Amino acid sequence: MEYNLSDTAGKEGRIPQGEPQRQYYFMERAKERLEQMCAEAGRRLTFCVVTFGCQMNARDSEKLTGILERIGYEETPDEEQADFVIYNTCTVRENANQRVYGRLGQLGRIKKKNPYMRIALCGCMMQEPEAVEKLKKSYRFVDIIFGTHNIYKFAELIYTRMESERMVIDIWNDTDQIVEDLPSERKYPFKSGVNIMFGCNNFCSYCIVPYVRGRERSRSPRAILREIERLAADGVVEVMLLGQNVNSYGKTLETPMTFAQLLREVEKVEGLERIRFMTSHPKDLSDELIEVMAQSGKICRHLHLPVQSGSSRILQKMNRRYTKEDYLALVEKIRRAMPDISLTTDIIVGFPGETEEDFQDTLDVVRKVRYDSAFTFIYSKRTGTPAAVMEDQVEPAVVKDRFDRLLREVQDISAEMCASRQGMVQSALVESVDDHEPGMVTGRLSSNLLVHFPGDASMIGSICPVLLRECRGFYYIGEISR
Ligand code: SAH
Ligand code: SF4
Ligand code: F3S
Repeated sequence: MEYNLSDTAGKEGRIPQGEPQRQYYFMERAKERLEQMCAEAGRRLTFCVVTFGCQMNARDSEKLTGILERIGYEETPDEEQADFVIYNTCTVRENANQRVYGRLGQLGRIKKKNPYMRIALCGCMMQEPEAVEKLKKSYRFVDIIFGTHNIYKFAELIYTRMESERMVIDIWNDTDQIVEDLPSERKYPFKSGVNIMFGCNNFCSYCIVPYVRGRERSRSPRAILREIERLAADGVVEVMLLGQNVNSYGKTLETPMTFAQLLREVEKVEGLERIRFMTSHPKDLSDELIEVMAQSGKICRHLHLPVQSGSSRILQKMNRRYTKEDYLALVEKIRRAMPDISLTTDIIVGFPGETEEDFQDTLDVVRKVRYDSAFTFIYSKRTGTPAAVMEDQVEPAVVKDRFDRLLREVQDISAEMCASRQGMVQSALVESVDDHEPGMVTGRLSSNLLVHFPGDASMIGSICPVLLRECRGFYYIGEISR
């Protein structure tokens, strides 16, 4: 949404108190300062947003991009060339953090040679006090640090840094506020993520997300639908509704509403052709949702249903609130209603106390469900979570061996699932032209798998029927079906 500044604020001295007007005011001030900087430098200054982690972060990065563009920075894909670099961080597993520190060291050396360079850090890792302490101590060259709750204040923080020579740090512990109508710059013109809720209340015992993303808050259905209507009017044909646990959408609203009800409303948006969502927690997946999905002409035939472990004993220690049997029964119910659905999952190996027998239960679930694909993770100890202090942390060598066995099983089954659909005609949304193979484009199927087929750039954003001629493990080579 556009804000006319002359309506909402005057010049310096009359800073609007309400949001988002306040941020539009700071975007305007920062823009003036940036123009001076560009004139001084004799060139346009550039920015690069680097995203780690999940779809939530990817969506947040589009908001950061929107704000930087509005201020007048020009986007560049190369972080080493950029004058403003922001890392939108993830901390779900330890190795994500290590990558940030590594790249940051490199960036610090580049900054020494560029007097206009600014470095900002935000996202989940910044919600951890130890990480911020480490940055304050050993990475003094960082200019701006903020967290997940006040991302909407980005413009204000940039301007604050422009006006002072000090490191600007602003981290909140939690928030109940949702600021609507800030600028945002979509990565793809034809598809978009849409936040429907923020935070998480589940506290799975291994997971840091509830601590860094705060309590669960749902956006109002009105705001969500308005955003999707605008996106559709702007050429978006596919939306991905985002939340850590979309199945509990609406419980905290003044007038409660279920996720299935929300989907029914989204389905009505004209021009929109495909609806996806992530992530579904098995414990909250309702019959109503299965019914809405089965009847829908727009909801994609794909469900990401993280199982985490196949052992009821481990699931209980994980605080997942379902058993192996509950999960298998749920999958059966889903498959009965939608035999062609593609199921994917997340699995953790090596949770504290996991025995070979527990692991066999995980393999058993994988064999019974037959996932189209699965993300497999080695358990990573996150300080502050209940699992971090559990006894019987599993030996790394044992975990590695289980991980390899699981991966083989998962990949073999994925390849079989992929092959079973060879020869079918399915609709694909064309997303890009292939860099390496001229004359070919990449399309995404309703199942979320990719298909490469002959085509050109004019097809990007359109949905076409494609014959899945040949399965190549986890993608297809196809041709337009006439
Ligand atoms: N809200 C989503 C998941 C968000 S995190 C859900 O509940 O399904 C994405 C995935 O990271 C999780 O599904 C889990 O498999 C994995 N994960 C989370 N914490 C982890 C940890 N400490 N170690 C290893 N994997 C973890
Ligand atoms: Fe983490 Fe569990 Fe919340 Fe997912 S549902 S974000 S795994 S605590
Ligand atoms: Fe990572 Fe935060 Fe997402 S910890 S997985 S970026 S919610």
